[in-house]
Amino acid sequence: MKIVFATHNQHKKEEAAAILGSQWELLALPDIGCLTEIPETADTLMGNAIQKAQYVFQHYHTNCFADDTGLEIEALGGRPGVYSARYAGEGCSYNDNVQKVLREMQGLTNRKACFKTVVTLILDGREYYFEGRVDGQMLTEPRGTAGFGYDPIFLPDGYDQSFAEMDASLKNSISHRGRAMRKLVEFLNNR
Ligand code: IMP
Repeated sequence: MKIVFATHNQHKKEEAAAILGSQWELLALPDIGCLTEIPETADTLMGNAIQKAQYVFQHYHTNCFADDTGLEIEALGGRPGVYSARYAGEGCSYNDNVQKVLREMQGLTNRKACFKTVVTLILDGREYYFEGRVDGQMLTEPRGTAGFGYDPIFLPDGYDQSFAEMDASLKNSISHRGRAMRKLVEFLNNR
């Protein structure tokens, strides 16, 4: 059965395909000819995930799902949160965001943080939600080169490697997105 992941990100598509298994034909936005950047203007992760899934459903009339992720740092009052992608400003790089967080956290001893992902599924016109979370600590300097985003400065609880020092399969097995995606897949495979 065909299902569309509302993302342009090939890395995310591959990650989802590995979890979904072969009974699903997974398509990303470029595969269905959608080249526009879908607006993400809500002020919550769930709002953005719904916005993206509804856009695909309304324009392409297909079963689909979308995700949105945020890094919430306790000592920064939950920032960058829903603004994680563009924390250092429009057009910023992953490293700009990392440097901004490190600057803002300079001297802070409370390093607690978590990543949260919300996945919204629209299946036969009905909406469903799945959440994943991983808790950890913000490092004081970047470690590792794998992954993306804030991976080099996030140390998941119970591990002594940052996300950027882990191989992808270990990261996926404990990450916010991996957890939310596995809930989605369990739902799809058992309905
Ligand atoms: P998105 O909603 O998945 O596009 O994520 C928003 C932003 O959160 C990204 O641009 C990254 O900066 C950050 N982010 C999302 N997932 C991860 C992750 O697995 N590791 C590190 N940063 C992430």
